[in-house]
Amino acid sequence: MSTTTATPDISRIVKKWRKKRGSLIMALHEIQNTFGYVPRDVSLQLSQLMDVPMARIYEVITFYNYFKLDPPGKYTISVCMGTACYLKGADDLTQAFAAELNVEEGDSTEDGLFHLQTVRCVGCCGLAPVVVVNGETHSAVKVEDVPKIIAACRYLEDGKEEEE
Ligand code: FES
Repeated sequence: MSTTTATPDISRIVKKWRKKRGSLIMALHEIQNTFGYVPRDVSLQLSQLMDVPMARIYEVITFYNYFKLDPPGKYTISVCMGTACYLKGADDLTQAFAAELNVEEGDSTEDGLFHLQTVRCVGCCGLAPVVVVNGETHSAVKVEDVPKIIAACRYLEDGKEEEE
């Protein structure tokens, strides 16, 4: 497994949808699908790249129940279930995360720390299977990496609590 700190490329999403009908909604769908919600900084990037006022983006997000402004869990774990990732074992990864966190796919842990979801292709198929945690991409993930990914989040969380 390797990790990149790069967030999924918003300009790629914009390029993909720019000339299509309902481009803003489609781009927002892909963003929500990737992050589990629409982060404010991503909305700002989208606003600049698509030349759409933030007010319009906010209007769309709040009109449709599907879009969320806040993360469903402190750490949103998105397992890519696109074809390339699926063929390389994404389903096993989803099951491993579900077992490790004791949640169903689509749910959050009771303490609200983790949210597990599956998403469609996040656009880096060459790195399959891919898991995105709060915008951080983990590539070539194996089932045995699952506890490590969760432990890393818990470790970060403990560090934050100690700082407070
Ligand atoms: S199928 Fe997973 S990144 Fe494309």
